[in-house]
Amino acid sequence: MYAPDANCNWWSSMKRILITGAIGQIGTELTMALRQRYGADHVIATDIRMPADRSFLESGPFEFLDVLDPHHITRVMSIHQADTIYHLAAILSAVGENRPNQAWQVNVNGLYNVLEAARQYHCAVFVPSSIGVFGNSTPLDRTPQVTIQRPETMYGVTKLAGELLCQYYFRRFGVDTRGVRFPGIISYETEPGGGTTDYAVEIFIEAIKHKKYTCYLRPDTSLDMMYMPDAIRAMVDLMEADPDRLEHRNAYNVTAMSFTPSELAREITQYVPGFAIEYQIDPVRQAIADSWPNSMDDSAARTEWGWRPEFDMRAMTRGMLEVLAKRHGHTDFRLVSR
Ligand code: SER
Repeated sequence: MYAPDANCNWWSSMKRILITGAIGQIGTELTMALRQRYGADHVIATDIRMPADRSFLESGPFEFLDVLDPHHITRVMSIHQADTIYHLAAILSAVGENRPNQAWQVNVNGLYNVLEAARQYHCAVFVPSSIGVFGNSTPLDRTPQVTIQRPETMYGVTKLAGELLCQYYFRRFGVDTRGVRFPGIISYETEPGGGTTDYAVEIFIEAIKHKKYTCYLRPDTSLDMMYMPDAIRAMVDLMEADPDRLEHRNAYNVTAMSFTPSELAREITQYVPGFAIEYQIDPVRQAIADSWPNSMDDSAARTEWGWRPEFDMRAMTRGMLEVLAKRHGHTDFRLVSR
């Protein structure tokens, strides 16, 4: 967990953080991490769904909040006196291709409402962008921080519009907006919903449950990925970074590892003997993955706010399998140490 440190004591005594989309894959873990770091009462989790997990609900304040309702946002913000927003409510890439209208509504209009509220209430805002902001005309190897951005998906269009909108609110109104371009996020607490990179989470669950997985991407599809503890650290470190050093604040390339489905399957086989992967390609998600970087250059984040991931593919694989094996009752599970 990302625990408090001496430097953040003065800060945490003042912070009041509001998280949208707090029940999602990133939100559930970010909420708990921020509560641990800044104090439970300083972190207000919000979502359009009620949390199914009782311990989440009991861990601190929760509000029902629809980001498409601007008055609702300002009401919740004024009740809780929020000064920072982590705006995570969004529709992911594969769902966005099925429901482009909803993706636009949530990802662009929802963000606009949040930025407007932040402007009125003088809040800092973190917004996750994505590898989805790149497209086929982008250099896909060592993708630079500043490069061609012509995304082919509605998700990518909305995320790119979001980067620009955040930058506009910073430049025009002085709102302290900050963001990262996240790759696929791998975690075991809450599954992602409707993304192109979801295979890298599903594969672990299926490996533990059935020792086999049918992958919807080609075996040689290379994509950037990150283990959740690194993703949490990226968000917190960026929001605590010295603003004077943030030249590319909306938004930074960040990555921790880059692999293909066949490379990940080979790694899993080291711990789950007999694990088998087969392939049944989904043309929609394959086309999306093909238009995204093979690996990003995240040197701007490293230079400007000290980004440095801790988990590579090997450490992440071991972490995922250890937790999931225990959770599924495999006390005698053969984790082969190397
Ligand atoms: N994980 C996201 C998706 O696959 C990318 O940001 O949609």
